[in-house]
Amino acid sequence: MSSASQPQPILLANYTVPSYLVLKTDLTFDLHDDQTRVTALLTLQRNPQAVTDVDSLVLHGSELELESIALDDRVLTAAEYQVDGESLTLTGLPSQLTLRIVTRIKPHLNTSLEGLYQSRGLYCTQCEAEGFRKITYYPDRPDVMSEFTTRITADRQRYPVLLSNGNLVEQGELDGGRHFAVWHDPFKKPAYLFALVAGDLSFIENHFVTRSGRDVTLRIYVEAKDLDKCDHAMDSLKNSMHWDEEVYGREYDLDIFMIVAVDDFNMGAMENKGLNIFNTSCVLAKPETTTDVGFQRVEAVVAHEYFHNWSGNRVTCRDWFQLSLKEGFTVYRDAEFSADMGSRTVKRIEDVALLRTLQFAEDGGPMAHAVRPASYIEISNFYTLTIYEKGAELVRMLATLLGPEKFREGSDLYFDRHDGQAVTTDDFVQAMADVSGRDLGQFKRWYSQAGTPRIEVSDHYDEDALEYSLTFRQSCPPTPENTNKQPFHIPVKTGLLGTAGDLPLRLKDHPVDTETSDNTSIVLELTEAEQTFVFQQVHEKPVPSVLRGFSAPVKLHYSWQREDLITLMSRDSDGFNRWEASQQLALRVLHDLMQEASLATVSAATEEAIAALIDALQSVVQDETLDPAMVAYMLTLPTEAYISELATVIDVDAIHQARQYLQGRIAHALKSAFVSIYQRYDHQQAYRADARGIADRSLKNTALHYLSLLDDESWIETCYEQYRAASNMTDAMAALTRLVNTDNPLAATLAENALDNFYQRWQQEPLVVNQWFSVQAGCNLPDTLAQVKKLQKHPAFDSRNPNKIRALIGVFCNNNAVNFHRLDEQQQGQGYRFLADEIIRLNKQNPQIAARLLTPLTKWRKYDETRQQLMKAELQRILQEELSRDVYEVVSKSLA
Ligand code: PHE
Ligand code: ZN
Repeated sequence: MSSASQPQPILLANYTVPSYLVLKTDLTFDLHDDQTRVTALLTLQRNPQAVTDVDSLVLHGSELELESIALDDRVLTAAEYQVDGESLTLTGLPSQLTLRIVTRIKPHLNTSLEGLYQSRGLYCTQCEAEGFRKITYYPDRPDVMSEFTTRITADRQRYPVLLSNGNLVEQGELDGGRHFAVWHDPFKKPAYLFALVAGDLSFIENHFVTRSGRDVTLRIYVEAKDLDKCDHAMDSLKNSMHWDEEVYGREYDLDIFMIVAVDDFNMGAMENKGLNIFNTSCVLAKPETTTDVGFQRVEAVVAHEYFHNWSGNRVTCRDWFQLSLKEGFTVYRDAEFSADMGSRTVKRIEDVALLRTLQFAEDGGPMAHAVRPASYIEISNFYTLTIYEKGAELVRMLATLLGPEKFREGSDLYFDRHDGQAVTTDDFVQAMADVSGRDLGQFKRWYSQAGTPRIEVSDHYDEDALEYSLTFRQSCPPTPENTNKQPFHIPVKTGLLGTAGDLPLRLKDHPVDTETSDNTSIVLELTEAEQTFVFQQVHEKPVPSVLRGFSAPVKLHYSWQREDLITLMSRDSDGFNRWEASQQLALRVLHDLMQEASLATVSAATEEAIAALIDALQSVVQDETLDPAMVAYMLTLPTEAYISELATVIDVDAIHQARQYLQGRIAHALKSAFVSIYQRYDHQQAYRADARGIADRSLKNTALHYLSLLDDESWIETCYEQYRAASNMTDAMAALTRLVNTDNPLAATLAENALDNFYQRWQQEPLVVNQWFSVQAGCNLPDTLAQVKKLQKHPAFDSRNPNKIRALIGVFCNNNAVNFHRLDEQQQGQGYRFLADEIIRLNKQNPQIAARLLTPLTKWRKYDETRQQLMKAELQRILQEELSRDVYEVVSKSLA
């Protein structure tokens, strides 16, 4: 790519208010097989807020065929406007005007899945972030909010269902077998929230009466074959509506709320006003086809999109640098919802595990960016774990600092103050500051400084003074745009464990807040590079339990004694820290194992560490007060991805081998416990996707996993038996995964049988076929790459469908480190080459998916020299292509 054509970054510092407001947007879509004609009638008014008396207007537009443009009913000649591939500019405009713009687009050729496109014959739209400009010329920026009316015309037979945002105001027949529908959305909104759907869909319907008595029709539209998989999403929707009223005082505001499921979708789902469009993978669920994780994902995503109606739609973002304003807040809201629906501690463990592996890795790599970035080349690349998950952690920290009542007051003030506006993360924090009277100036650094802070903790016990002090030192490594970090304002929830349990806390110079504190946990606020807190009247040397509930997204370092970790594991009142102690203990053993020259004979010290871990796990298994889901998580070793994130240089094979070895040792040592867990489980019990059901299956399948590692073929047969007898996908998949990953001739035969049977049984269900691709792509045994390439040619694979790409290629490259990174002679660098080839193909077809798929290659700096060179060479090869902005940004930044 020549430097002249290199895409330029957009800067937050260059933000200016729009020159014109769009009071009304009236759209007409005439859908025809060869093209769609879009007529946009815009009522515009000069923005009184515009700094200067500008009389020009830039409309965004991309891949549009302009038929005509008329200003106040007068058709303009080509000399009266400037148009290029990205925009249409008008100058010398009056302060009030109308524009009538007619464009033609080709949805059937749209493979980017942005704008108006087709998915299995269905017309649908995806406009966030900048897809509306692929529909018509428009000021496609979130601070331009308008009242939309949408008229759709289409063939009546093939497209009986015509949907858009808001309420249906008119529908009827037209000549030539066509019909029309008109939708009006009374709430002004930015164009990114626009949606249109046309197709042959069926629906399930339900109702929700809001607390002020509004009767809302709820509909989930799907293909007729999927009607039996909508109940869980409907239940989740009703629960979400109720929860948002109870917990945030937020009511729904239209007469109808619709969800439409589509098979081809770049992301999980989209919160278009009144008409959410979902990836089928985030709506459809039934026990036979969907795992527990799938059920939980549906619940969470339905809630997330519903919650956006307030946090995102009623109050939206001023510009895309503020993306986390809606995403961070909404992820926090959906996480709290899921915590209330299921187990709070378990939900927290799952979220933190995700954050610490993937978000921390992002924050430590070349794509690191602040929660409110200062620049971007392509905004689609910024729908990241940092914006979503870290953004949610920032909101959680605000809630921790303010306490629940003030936080709710702050949220009420924010919604009240900014209803109908497009605002910034500063506005959000300001509302929290105003209700609490707290100075959150330093806290805002969390929004502008990228990187994961590191906290070193040291302690001292003064027996004579009965004082125990904790000293915290914080620092933050440099990130691409920001080398010199100022200290963060960090809430560190802390407790002290004595021999009889949590000690009462008396912090020197700090009055105990009797209202919010139970006296055994306190939120210490770090604001300086180094700070010491002194606890008084401490009658024994305690074990510190710091960062309870993972109260801040930081890397905490403290040199716990092994005994301390065992104490925390068995007795901490904070469930999260109990789990965390189990992970720390296991990590130490794994690190010891990775230092061993050979795993055939390990040193006495390592043996001792293994024995201590096994002892501790034994107690976990026997602890009947523990939630079975907690037991399962405590028994599960840190993932390869997490161990890799913690490593300075990732030794792919050593990590895998150490982990496999330790799993084997645990399996042998705790065999009888695992047998009894497996046997006492009631295999006939009816499936329920509730916390208890999920927890029981999770523990039982964890036990089966360990048992399958024993050199005992009867457990391989048990896996096969469980697969065959399973009445739900969770049990079927757990068993199948074990068969596929077990290096043993019997397992291989049974795996092949099961995989054949699975495909025969489920070939009509795309989402189940995706799981079939994934279980094979994730296989740790050699030869998987060849198998993946073979599966790409399988009739069920569709190289345009994002879910299929993620299931096969994504899983191989992200979740199968030993195979993706293979260095042995025949396969050296082939995983990298395979991925680069796919990216080059997808770069044209679907740039967003191409850029996302790049992630594993961008981490090249974390590997050994050989792998670094191989990975870099593939990135450089990609860079030789004519690249989309999406791929260019990721490749160039990761090579910089
Ligand atoms: N805004 C969507 C959500 O998080 C995600 C999304 C972004 C979907 C861009 C499509 C395109 O709820
Ligand atoms: Zn969202």
